[in-house]
Amino acid sequence: MAAQSRLELACEPSAPRRARAHAKDVLPGWGLPQGLVDDALLIVSELATNAVRHAGAPAVPDSPLHGPLRVPLCCLTLLLVADHLYISFYDEACNRPPVLRRAPDDAESGRGVALVDGLTGGAWGWQPSSGKPGKFVWAQLNFVLSDPQRAEKLRSLGVSA
Ligand SMILES: Nc1ncnc2c1ncn2[C@@H]1O[C@H](COP(=O)(O)OP(=O)(O)OP(=O)(O)O)[C@@H](O)[C@H]1O
Ligand SMILES: [Mg+2]
Repeated sequence: MAAQSRLELACEPSAPRRARAHAKDVLPGWGLPQGLVDDALLIVSELATNAVRHAGAPAVPDSPLHGPLRVPLCCLTLLLVADHLYISFYDEACNRPPVLRRAPDDAESGRGVALVDGLTGGAWGWQPSSGKPGKFVWAQLNFVLSDPQRAEKLRSLGVSA
């Protein structure tokens, strides 16, 4: 039982909204429990926001002498395998990894990775991309379905139980 969806995006401020909208379109169609979809949407938002903020296009090009600014790309992949949903987000910054921070109560930032860590029970990570320069930050959600939910999921994926 498997399903996959990819969305390539310009790594710019609209990317988190587009990535989230894509996941919101796709995931309910995979017959997943609503709670899992909600968690997945939060994770998509955090990973996409981090890609844009920490690995995205500079607000101002370094120099007009370098020609037109090339906007870096990012890519959302959603993958369902058995009872695991994998969410991965590619960005072009290969030498800067995500860092799990323990933000103090009064900090205004530094919570996104901690949220992903909490939602996945620590099942997240990153790895350099093998094809083109960049990295994948991934998160894994596991779920247990009741029999009727499982039957519905199989039906929605076109698999007979
Ligand atoms: N895709 C990424 N590329 C490079 N660095 C990243 C990436 N994602 C996270 N980081 C690094 O990990 C740190 C922690 O990320 P986290 O999402 O927890 O906090 P934040 O983005 O700084 O703030 P917040 O998410 O709370 O608005 C970031 O400050 C950044 O240094
Ligand atoms: Mg963040």
